[in-house]
Amino acid sequence: MSKVFIDACFGKETPYTPVWMMRQAGRYLPEYMEVRSKAGNFLNLCHNPEMAAEVTLQPVDIVGVDAAILFSDILVVPNEMGMKLDFVKGEGPVFENPIKNESDLDALIGGEKAADKLTYVYDTIKIVKEKLPEDKAFIGFCGAPWTLATYMIEGQGTKTYTISKKMMYQNPDLLHKILKKVTEVVKYYMEKQIQAGIEVVQIFDSWAAAIEPSKYDEFSWKYMVEIAEYLKEKYPHIPVIMFPKAIPTFLDNVYGNFDVFGVDWGTPMQLAKEKLGDKYVLQGNMEPCRLYSKEATKECVESLANIMKDGRHIFNLGHGILPDVPVENAKYFVKLCQDTTRR
Ligand code: CP3
Repeated sequence: MSKVFIDACFGKETPYTPVWMMRQAGRYLPEYMEVRSKAGNFLNLCHNPEMAAEVTLQPVDIVGVDAAILFSDILVVPNEMGMKLDFVKGEGPVFENPIKNESDLDALIGGEKAADKLTYVYDTIKIVKEKLPEDKAFIGFCGAPWTLATYMIEGQGTKTYTISKKMMYQNPDLLHKILKKVTEVVKYYMEKQIQAGIEVVQIFDSWAAAIEPSKYDEFSWKYMVEIAEYLKEKYPHIPVIMFPKAIPTFLDNVYGNFDVFGVDWGTPMQLAKEKLGDKYVLQGNMEPCRLYSKEATKECVESLANIMKDGRHIFNLGHGILPDVPVENAKYFVKLCQDTTRR
């Protein structure tokens, strides 16, 4: 059976435009909260393949999205490279010993050896693969090296990225060494996700906008393209989605062999279409807060369907769903996307 989602990623004609939501497996679902409380905490949930598979499948059953996204986190990669990770209530992720110098970096495990430690992710994928309905696609993901590096250097989330950017201008060689090491691990990691059963790859560069436009290629995009092209060369049937958040000025400079460009909610879809629509399928880009209102959701879905009426589109939120969105509104969004575009 052909999967609407995968056909759409390759720009083929589909019976309707498929839809999924970033962070669809998460806190807005009471069923997720129940499994997370059984697991004890978020990282335990990531480490438990049975439970992680269960929450991966929840939004497919409950909300009706066209693709499941693996339940995990981008930060399991630096964690398995040897950085101790904690998710602190109210503060988010925290690494105990951020990278300050070359010897901190050298102490981390690299390459395939680090990727081999993520067995719980591959086991989750195998379980999901067995249970996922045949017409739904299965998305795997990783963080872009730059986004991962910001956590590895800052030790936690940041609003200013001061420590990472100090390194960018004072010691760019060290930053490049970190980015190279992470890129190598992520290449193997994504390859192993594909070998375990992942059918689509998304690379999240959530903190793209921290880099000034003239430096974006050098410190982030080229590493994302390296990962994408490594995968496309070996697995051309696996679509790759790139999601660099909030860098509209970079649209003119986007290059590389991948399939789908994820448009964040701050970039007008019309603009993305004019600049990139011939070359890439576009994904996005409803402002996630519109999900608080059905009217606001409808207005956006209709407008996007109109802009993208020639196809080459996948519906998605322009960033992650928020924990207090009513499940009913998420269901409404998904069905509306599918029904509005049914051909
Ligand atoms: O459904 C899905 O999208 C799959 C699961 C997923 C999670 N994290 C689960 C999660 C995905 C794709 C991610 C990616 C991720 N993780 C990103 C990139 C995407 C984005 O949102 O920009 C980033 C930057 C992270 C790092 C991270 N993980 C942060 C900053 C936080 C804390 C913030 C928060 O929302 O609490 C997390 C925790 C996290 N990852 C949660 C979930 C469901 C919340 C944990 C919980 O309380 O259950």
